[in-house]
Formats: sequence, structure tokens, C-alpha cells
Amino acid sequence: MEPADLRIDIGRLLDRLDELGEIGRIDGPNGEWGNARLALTDDDRAGRDLVVAWMRDLGLDVAIDAIGNVIATRVGTDPSLAPVMVGSHIDTVGTGGRFDGNLGVLAGLEIVETLDQHRIGTARPLQVAFFTDEEGARFAPDMLGSLVYVGGMPLEEALDVIAADDGARLGDELERIGYAGPVPCPTATPPAAYLELHIEQGPVLEAEGITIGVVEGVQGISWTEVVIVGRSAHAGTTPMRLRRDPGYCAGAVTTFVRELVGELGGGQVGTVGRIDLYPNLVNVVASRVVMTVDLRNPDDDALEEAEGRLERFLAELAVAEGVEISTRRLARFEPVAFDPVMVGRVEDHARRLGYSTRRMPSGAGHDAQMLARICPTAMVFTPSVGGLSHNIAEFTEAVDLEAGANVLLQVVLGELGAVG
Ligand code: GLV
Ligand code: MN
Ligand code: MN
Repeated sequence: MEPADLRIDIGRLLDRLDELGEIGRIDGPNGEWGNARLALTDDDRAGRDLVVAWMRDLGLDVAIDAIGNVIATRVGTDPSLAPVMVGSHIDTVGTGGRFDGNLGVLAGLEIVETLDQHRIGTARPLQVAFFTDEEGARFAPDMLGSLVYVGGMPLEEALDVIAADDGARLGDELERIGYAGPVPCPTATPPAAYLELHIEQGPVLEAEGITIGVVEGVQGISWTEVVIVGRSAHAGTTPMRLRRDPGYCAGAVTTFVRELVGELGGGQVGTVGRIDLYPNLVNVVASRVVMTVDLRNPDDDALEEAEGRLERFLAELAVAEGVEISTRRLARFEPVAFDPVMVGRVEDHARRLGYSTRRMPSGAGHDAQMLARICPTAMVFTPSVGGLSHNIAEFTEAVDLEAGANVLLQVVLGELGAVG
């Protein structure tokens, strides 16, 4: 068969998605189901073990690096050529879907199996990777594994990151689950190109009836942890004027973020995703709040403006309410533009396969935005039903998964140089 006529087997891809999804499965009340496989938990380990077993079954050479990234290689015919890499992540948020990340990794395995089945060799090696802690929900920042892989964060600093929920140290958890690998990180052997298939996680493709999103880049991301310290007091006896109440302040910050986004307009979005109150009791004015603010914008100057305004608001709030407010930057990534040539190839292959396409930015963060620092990179998006993601009801139709994986296959084959 000619390489241009090769197609993936959607049944195999769906089977793997389902089997991986069984690990850390969460069932909703209406038949919807998703996943909790927070980075470096026991469920993440089980997911990793399964995917590594599949990699080995396919005869791939599996390498695990010092931050736990797993990279499996199918050899090429020309050992002097750098590999083409496809990948994504298999960790999830605590209430995640079963496609976010998993699709990109398992589509990579499906490409390997398709090439094997048709006995197609390639000049360049093909690598299928999953990167540690893409979500950042347990260990900030997000895209941590791919960030270290490209040399954007020192390994030691990454290993010392402390979990938001349980106070565990990333390096200890990596050792505990058996994924502190021997391969040095950052990598000494950058790929020739990186491609990532992902669900859109937003409403645009579905709303416009388009099958393939040709991703031109990723918007800027800013995560801030805000700690507000006041004074614990009796809820019944303490006059309002004598309170130093972090619980009230958390509400004020949340409201401010919504108003700020409205005022800035454009592509600005803002989220308060986490508020932890201490001691969290009905009749006690809280003594402390730890909360997070997630700000994103495709325009970095506008994002800086939003960050500055938040900072000024917090300073004023501290004075007005008699509380102490400190902040810590959990993540800060500038907007990223993907390689125009690679982006064009995604579009060309998608059109050749007969799919409707649309160029678009990514609202979510992806490992691809880190890989773009070291090699030509592009992404393929498929529609998300109802635009839902980071929700167990996240869903993408099989026909769209198949389209996305076939586009990925064809783009990758072009980069690999099929030798029949
Ligand atoms: C990662 O999924 C992010 O965009 O938060
Ligand atoms: Mn993802
Ligand atoms: Mn995600």
C-alpha cells in the first residue's frame, strides 16, 4: 500500500482509550465517565505501566528520563537522522476526561501499529512520548515534564516542587512510583519535529461544524497562588468592624477577577479554581486562605496588564481589610506560535484527506508549546462535544478521533520519510 493511502484502525485506538480510561475511572450519574489520574499518584503509575507494556508489546525501545518522561522509539533505516516525535500526556486533573492527553499518546501507538501491520519502514526513527505532569493540578507548573525536557526548568528545581493537595515532594513521588528514570533530562537529542493530536477542549470546532483544528499556537498562561492571612475569631461575638477575614477577601478576589476579565475584554480569561479556607468551620472566621488565580491571554502585553491590576487590587485589599496577602507565581508561559511550515503541512494533509479545517489558537496549555522551543512543532485538534473538558463528561465522537489520528499519521509519515 502507498503511504498516502494508509489509515489507522479506529477500533484499536478506541480499545486502548477505553482500557486506559478504566484506570482511575470516575462514573457520573448519567452514564458519563472520566478519569482521576493526578500526576505521580498510584493511578498515574498504573496508567504508565499499562502504556509502557503496550510500547514494549509493539517492540519499541522504552526510555524513562530523570523527570519520568517516557519516550518509546521505533527505529528508522538511517541512524544518522533525528527522530520525529509524537506525544502528549496521560496524567489528568482530579475530575478529568478520558481523551485529554491520552488521545495524543495512544494515537502515536496506533500509528506505530499501523506502520508495523503494513511493514512500512521509515528513514527517521519515530518516537511516542508521554510527559510527566502536564496538568499541573497536583504539582505546578503545568507542562512540567516537557518544560524540564527542553531545558526550561532545572531538574533539581522540578524534583523539589511540593504538591498542592498533600504536601508530597515531586522527586519522592517519582521514586515511589518507580519512574525516576536513568536517562538525563533535559534531552541531549532533540527531535527533528514534534506533533501532538489533542481534543480541542472548547466549543469552536463543534459550533462551526469543522472536523480538524489546525493549531497555530497557544495563548499565554499565568498562575498565581494567593495566601491571605487574617485572624481567627468567633463568628457570633466578633463585631464586623473588628474582623480581619480572609474568607471575605477570597470572595472579593474572585469577584475582582471576573470584573477584570470583563473590563479587559479581548481574549482575556480568568479563573479562581481553588480556595482553601482554614480552619474551614461554620462558626469560625477563617484565619487563612490559600487560593489560585489562572489568567490567560493570547496577547502577552494584555496578560501583563491583567497581572499588574491583580497585584494592585491585592495590595489595596490587604490595607482595607487588615490582612496580610502574599503571592507566589506557580506558572508563567508566554504565548507560543507554532512553526508555520509544520502548521501548513497539517492543513494540507487534512484537506487532502477531505476534512474541513480551521486555523485556531489553543486556549489550553500543551506539551507542544514546550517542544516548540527545541524543534518545529504543530498540533491537530478534534472537536469536543459541548466544548467540555476538565469534566468527566468530556467526549469526542469516534469519527472525529479517527479523522484526527489519520491526519496525524499522514503528517508524521511526511516528516519520517516512508521507505516502503
Ligand atoms: C492544562 O491542561 C491547562 O491548560 O490547564
Ligand atoms: Mn491535555
Ligand atoms: Mn488538561
